Amino acid sequence: MTSPTADQHPLLSSALDLPALSDLARDLAVEAARIAHESRPADLGVAGTKSSVTDVVTEMDRLVEQHLRTRLAEVRPDDAVHGEEDSYRPGTTGLTWVIDPIDGTVNYLYGRAGWSVSVAVVAGDPRIAGDWEPLAGAVADPSAAEVYVAHQGGGARRSSFTDDGGLGAATELRVNEPVELGMALVETGFGYLAERRAQQAQVVAGLLPQVRDIRRVGSAALDLCWVAAGEADAYYESGLNSYDIAAGVLIAREAGAVVTGLDELHPTRGMLIAGGPRVQAEIRAVLREFPRSLFVIREG
Ligand code: IPD
Repeated sequence: MTSPTADQHPLLSSALDLPALSDLARDLAVEAARIAHESRPADLGVAGTKSSVTDVVTEMDRLVEQHLRTRLAEVRPDDAVHGEEDSYRPGTTGLTWVIDPIDGTVNYLYGRAGWSVSVAVVAGDPRIAGDWEPLAGAVADPSAAEVYVAHQGGGARRSSFTDDGGLGAATELRVNEPVELGMALVETGFGYLAERRAQQAQVVAGLLPQVRDIRRVGSAALDLCWVAAGEADAYYESGLNSYDIAAGVLIAREAGAVVTGLDELHPTRGMLIAGGPRVQAEIRAVLREFPRSLFVIREG
């Protein structure tokens, strides 16, 4: 299936103001990140679990998502909303806001850096892999007080932000290119199900001897932003959801990254591979040599 673009999607007005949408995504992401950062209870506990006992949700995931949903209902009442923690809210415009209130929840739970708030607006249906295309988005990293922002065709930028939400000057982002496989610093991540982790462990064990090194921080959204910023050369992971990646995919692409699935041109639940053109193609070729059974995603 070919992903829709802003121009092609039948429901979208040709008058979409993508810079304004990316400014809104940025402001919402920074606002939500500051709330999560400043209001994190000292005794933060687990409020529930999802696919496994280690796949946790905290009260702050829910509170921050509700904040984002309330703000979107005020400023974009006709758009749909797809978030990690609550149900899909339908809309009438063909636009859907895809939000991850805290990506890197386990880092947040432990009071570590390496979590973010991801806000994107997409054309198409973000619940169906390959059926959506990010138009604008932002990822806020409150531990570094930085926000990554992009809109389709507009490049990718990073700004610092202050405690009161003020923004510093924006820096243009560019991926590292060309990078050969043996010199590549490659990020990855793991799901929460034991069976999926066992598959992912086999893949990383095969790739590790072929690259400079591997990093696993714990926020897919930030992994994609670090590729965009040249702070890693590539990133791959299986089992991701659209809310983990909607903003980060756009930020990486706008910084010059190629982002695909294993066989498909778009990332799927089975695999996302991102990086500068050379190393992305090399990693994709290596991963395609693994048994396909290692990329089968069974839901938890
Ligand atoms: C997780 C993070 C992690 C990735 C997992 C995701 P969450 O999202 O992005 O880096 O490896 O696959 O589920 O649960 O922290 O929102």
